[in-house]
Amino acid sequence: MTELMKFIPLILLTLATFVGCNDGSEETQQSAASSAVTQNTGSPERWYSQPQVERGSQVFSENCAVCHGDQAQGLTENWKQRLDDGSFPAPPLNGSAHAWHHSLALLTEVVEKGGTAFGGKMPPFADVLTDDDKQAAIAYFQSFWDEDTYLGWLDVGGVD
Ligand code: HEC
Repeated sequence: MTELMKFIPLILLTLATFVGCNDGSEETQQSAASSAVTQNTGSPERWYSQPQVERGSQVFSENCAVCHGDQAQGLTENWKQRLDDGSFPAPPLNGSAHAWHHSLALLTEVVEKGGTAFGGKMPPFADVLTDDDKQAAIAYFQSFWDEDTYLGWLDVGGVD
């Protein structure tokens, strides 16, 4: 047996381990990624689909994140305090503030009209986004709502 042949099994074993490991970690990464997106699509059944959340993530980062934060977490903890000009900072939309008190129809209306007509700072998106993209943006921030928040939202009207 040459020196090299002695090592072949070892090399194969190392390769197998390496490939095996690699597969494993990819799988973990994939399931971590998909669980981040589907995190709250369990029960009760949500009104939106995962592709809507994925599209919404892009719409949100391009149009909303600058004020509401990239994960809809808001940019300030003092969102209940008026600014010097009398308007309010953008609230979080991730379930920690008031957004869950508003039905889908009302949330859509806010996105359509913004707040500028009422002395607020949010611009209207009626002519900026397609209807599908408005719904996707809402789906995206609702994907951060936990089960209780979503149930509470259904209770106050939700999708009706
Ligand atoms: C220029 C900053 C700004 C941008 C951009 C913006 N918002 Fe807002 N948003 C606000 C502010 C400020 C409010 C509070 C009402 C107001 O003052 O206009 C608000 C309120 C809201 C509310 C109501 C929340 C509640 O608890 O009642 C929703 C829903 C919302 N925004 C969604 C969005 C979505 C979706 C986008 C992107 C398509 C977006 N906003 C883009 C600043 C912004």
